[in-house]
Amino acid sequence: MRDVPLHRVLLQLAHGGPLGLVEEVGRQARGAVVRLGLGPFRPLLVTHPDHVRHVLRDGAENYVRGAAMWDALGRLTGRGIAGEGPGWAASRDVLREGMSGGCLRRTGEVVAVSVDGAVEELAGRARGRSADAVGEMTRLVHRVVDPVFFGSRIGAERCDRLGRDVAAALDSLLWRMAMPFVPHRVPMPGDRAFLRATRAIDRTLVPVVGRARRQGGDGADLMSRLLRGRGPDGRPLDDEHVRRDIVALFVAGSESSALTLTWAWVVLARHPAVAAEVRREADRVLAGGPPRPEHVRQLVFTRQVLAEVMRLYSMAWAVPRVARADDVVGRVPVPAGTTLVLSPYLTHRLAEFWPDPLRFDPGRFERRAVRERHPLAYLPFGDGAHQCVGRAFFVMESVLVLATVLSRYEVHVSGDPCPRLAVALPPRGRVGLSLTPRGR
Ligand code: HEM
Repeated sequence: MRDVPLHRVLLQLAHGGPLGLVEEVGRQARGAVVRLGLGPFRPLLVTHPDHVRHVLRDGAENYVRGAAMWDALGRLTGRGIAGEGPGWAASRDVLREGMSGGCLRRTGEVVAVSVDGAVEELAGRARGRSADAVGEMTRLVHRVVDPVFFGSRIGAERCDRLGRDVAAALDSLLWRMAMPFVPHRVPMPGDRAFLRATRAIDRTLVPVVGRARRQGGDGADLMSRLLRGRGPDGRPLDDEHVRRDIVALFVAGSESSALTLTWAWVVLARHPAVAAEVRREADRVLAGGPPRPEHVRQLVFTRQVLAEVMRLYSMAWAVPRVARADDVVGRVPVPAGTTLVLSPYLTHRLAEFWPDPLRFDPGRFERRAVRERHPLAYLPFGDGAHQCVGRAFFVMESVLVLATVLSRYEVHVSGDPCPRLAVALPPRGRVGLSLTPRGR
């Protein structure tokens, strides 16, 4: 096994910044398991699809979210859906049911109407002037999420505030996530900001969840479902559990969705021929009318474009797990307690599976190409037991957003950003977005 020693890590960090470092390590590893020398923290980087399959599927029993990074995150998102064990399983069952099959089909109606309204609201702010793309996509995502996740109990404005507080709490955890070996009793930068943000989150959510509990009801939204959910002891999930799961839904679903949509606009601006094809498809399928849930299946090329955006801008650049018992991955011994870091971002750049990996090419997601590729070479939503519960919802939401906007507006993007490493992958610097109605 190759080691990437600390001095090389620091050198590459100085040269290409944190994301440049991640990319360089991935390039040099070429799918092999390598040990990262990050001081006392020496995780194994796992990127080859065969090894990913072992960790997330075949040997998944042995790999848990016990990593210290999850511990740090757990202070914000609790021990429900963002954790492991019985508390996770209880939330997972509720959320999976609410986000799949017939429930998702019914949700589709709400999503389509919300997208329609959110796009017009966006146009109101971005018509003829350059609005901040990340801010606008975040707002748009909240307009869709509020009815679907929370039965509109939080409301658009408070959703925006909650989103900001959750983002602030996450940012303040970065130090602890980067240095998971520092005990919680030792103060670190970000601790005070974390406390401030979590208090603000509780001020918003405690009354909302309390009121929803008292009102009861059989709502189809995720909050109602969680309130009806049962824990491993058969008792209802308590308010704290529900609140933390709601925060986890924000963490998991809000920023990643908004940033992926932002990158989609950037990529379409860089590839006008692709944008023109997406627009032709939108014109044909929407035919000048509002978006409908059944359009998602018909917007085949738009889905391919989105898939390729998620390959190149994979928000989950690090998915950590800890080995419970000794094991071997790719002929490398993995002693119990070792942290493994999977990186869909790097797996999506392996030249063995993705020829000319940095080239943007939606054709990679034509049916035949997908069939012929290793199934684990593409995992923007993870895989195995913890695979993203929101993936179908996200695809529905974002495909309808792209098609609705392009069927009605010319889109202008200013700035030519590259991604920066944070909890997800935001653009470095401001990206401007402006819309003008199409003259047809
Ligand atoms: C671009 C959009 C998204 C991306 C890239 C993404 C990515 C991921 C990934 C990689 C995981 C697996 C984490 C792991 O294995 O530990 C995950 C899990 C999860 N995602 Fe998403 N996600 C997205 C959108 C959403 C949305 C919209 C929701 C809202 C419902 C959501 C909810 C979740 C939840 C609850 C989990 C945890 C599942 C579990 O542990 O059982 N995600 N997501």
